[in-house]
Amino acid sequence: MINPLPPAEIEPAHPDDLGVIDRLQQEAFNTPWTTELLRAAILNEEYCVRVLRNPLLGLLGFYISHAVEKRCNLDNLVVRPAQRRKGLGTMLINDWAEQAAAKGLHVLTLQVNTANRDAQRLYERLGFRSTRILISYYPNGNDAFQMERGKKQALDDTLLGSLTGESPLDKLALRPLGLISPLRRKKQTP
Ligand SMILES: CC(C)(COP(=O)(O)OP(=O)(O)OC[C@H]1O[C@@H](n2cnc3c(N)ncnc32)[C@H](O)[C@@H]1OP(=O)(O)O)[C@@H](O)C(=O)NCCC(=O)NCCS
Repeated sequence: MINPLPPAEIEPAHPDDLGVIDRLQQEAFNTPWTTELLRAAILNEEYCVRVLRNPLLGLLGFYISHAVEKRCNLDNLVVRPAQRRKGLGTMLINDWAEQAAAKGLHVLTLQVNTANRDAQRLYERLGFRSTRILISYYPNGNDAFQMERGKKQALDDTLLGSLTGESPLDKLALRPLGLISPLRRKKQTP
């Protein structure tokens, strides 16, 4: 059955969006980001936090990404449960790709819980391929697949270094804000 796509625009998140973004990802993930991390991402120019808004229904979804070397990594993506399977997740991923390309970043990377088949199917449909498994990637010990789309599917040494030595959250410049330990290695989102 085809579900109608609600009219929606994608735009940069506003600090006032924090509460809804926080609630959406708390509902979606076993190991969500803390409110402080989300707030820091919204305020940090190195991070791209964009929301999908409907004039009547409000905020329907969001994503967070940031550059890792010459690649762009998807750090968080959620669509409001009642609005799923209407193409909004696809819209957000396409927007992420466009925003990254505008900055000259044509290789896209993401990590997805190995148990999250729905998200994996969506990414595969949009051309992403698993390149490796990240054992105990999440704080609860769950594993993740590294998925990529772009010119180079294989990981090079540079990216491997950034994946194993520094988590996307570390790059958030949260360390200067005192929100995250430099020793922290694991992400919080499946
Ligand atoms: C993963 C997630 C973002 C996908 O969002 P979504 O809005 O449902 O994504 P889409 O609607 O674009 O695509 C989902 C499915 O619906 C189908 N679909 C899209 N438009 C449709 C429509 N109009 N009618 C019926 N089905 C449709 C797609 O084909 C896709 O199916 P497939 O994956 O089997 O090919 C959403 O499920 C979510 O928020 N999950 C919880 C958080 C999460 O897991 N995030 C990813 C972390 S890595």
